Amino acid sequence: APAGLTDRYGRRATDMRLSLTDKCNLRCTYCMPAEGLEWLAKQAVMSADEIVRIVRVGVEQLGVRELRLTGGEPLVRHDLVEIIAALRANHPDLPISMTTNGVGLAKKAAALKAAGLTRINVSLDSLHEETFTKLTRRPFLDQVLAGVDAAWAAGLGPVKLNAVLMRGINDAESPQLLSWALERGYELRFIEQMPLDADHGWTRRNMITAAEIRGLLSRDFFLSPDPRARDGAPAERFEVRRRAAGSPDPESPMLGTVGIIASVTEPFCSDCRRTRITAEGKIMSCLFSREEFDLLGLLRAGASDDELAERWQDAMWIKPKAHGMDHVGLDAPDFVQPDRSMSAIGG
Ligand code: GTP
Ligand code: 5AD
Ligand code: SF4
Repeated sequence: APAGLTDRYGRRATDMRLSLTDKCNLRCTYCMPAEGLEWLAKQAVMSADEIVRIVRVGVEQLGVRELRLTGGEPLVRHDLVEIIAALRANHPDLPISMTTNGVGLAKKAAALKAAGLTRINVSLDSLHEETFTKLTRRPFLDQVLAGVDAAWAAGLGPVKLNAVLMRGINDAESPQLLSWALERGYELRFIEQMPLDADHGWTRRNMITAAEIRGLLSRDFFLSPDPRARDGAPAERFEVRRRAAGSPDPESPMLGTVGIIASVTEPFCSDCRRTRITAEGKIMSCLFSREEFDLLGLLRAGASDDELAERWQDAMWIKPKAHGMDHVGLDAPDFVQPDRSMSAIGG
């Protein structure tokens, strides 16, 4: 398949995001309801062998150049280390990263690195026990902090941290979060909340916008555009220097970088390079696509690699131009929220 995973708007998907499970051990309010969701049956979820086959088709036939493992929470999969080792054996040079909530990561970091994981992103919304527990509905802050440090120590850096800002909960803490990350050399990214929570509680008013985030940080920090190419990444990166409150000028050397992921107010769909596979093996051409293609079903029905590749191309060809309904943005009044929550798609 010489054309790879192209769509009718000329984009080409080279980054594959594959969900290993829909289960999670946190209940972040912007993602899951308190009681959890109805989990997929074990047989419905891709097995290790099926994952390995799908990734091989993506890499060998369709031009996939990067793989990110997501969830739910990928660490809850008991065969995670074996899956990574098998992927690494097939693809010695493929960057394989993982997005995790960090619970249980401290114990696993060294084994993940040894199996061949390249790098890791960890969700961290607050450094305050109470706020963390309110947001995630679980008291696991210490475990997550230990996990972040263990990942760095195991050589899984550069470690990136993801913080979804929620009005009145952790927004005021954003400068402290950034200071903490800069001191340790982690790259923090602030994320605009997207309407992908199972409770459908997202409102435009409560979402902290990228413009607000820049404002919140500007009292203590001086932000300037990072000269490195963005390459289709969700995060827009800034170099960070400190400044005295109110001063127009920076007063320190560059301390590191911060990212802002402005999915809602400054969307980056026109340069999207992502193809997604859900835990039950469905192709989603976009976080907000309403058409899914059952790749695992086709595989289980005995399809050849060529057939899998062709149908994957078909599924990506119809990738929407942008999220929402076509040209309509996520914050448009007639936007209809997708049925799947973030945990059921895979970040
Ligand atoms: P890096 O390669 O490390 O920069 O990874 P990443 O930022 O692409 O991945 P990560 O899983 O850490 O995602 C960070 C945030 O970006 C999450 O909130 C994702 O949901 C969001 N994100 C990732 N891909 C997309 C996308 O295609 N569209 C939108 N709107 N958001 C996305
Ligand atoms: N909006 C934005 N980001 C979200 N995440 C989960 N739910 C949402 C949402 N509704 C983030 C998590 C994690 C990443 C995979 O997606 O914080 O870092
Ligand atoms: Fe779990 Fe991630 Fe959803 Fe939080 S955002 S409940 S960590 S899947």
